Amino acid sequence: MPEVTYILGDGAPVTLEVPSDSTLLAAPLGLAIRMKYGCKLARCGKCVVSVLEGAHALSPPGPDEVRKLGPRLEQGMRLACQARARGPCVLRQEWVRMHGERRGGP
Ligand code: FES
Repeated sequence: MPEVTYILGDGAPVTLEVPSDSTLLAAPLGLAIRMKYGCKLARCGKCVVSVLEGAHALSPPGPDEVRKLGPRLEQGMRLACQARARGPCVLRQEWVRMHGERRGGP
């Protein structure tokens, strides 16, 4: 299973082994990471993440993701509800936080 590192809102990395058949969003749900998302259908754009490393290791974007992100794909953005990891990568979603953490920070 590929290792995916999620950078939390405070900059702390959390690395998970993500099954290659799971999306970048589905894998951490129910674990220690809570990510922002909405529709899970490539419509709302709330799950967008910046791919900091390993963009080549992600599944190619499908038509719905291309339609939603447009030029942001070329800027390293992906929809976590659509992309799947085939190899190691590092992602950042600005307010990815651990369960139980309060929004806003200190
Ligand atoms: S959750 Fe809505 S686009 Fe991903």
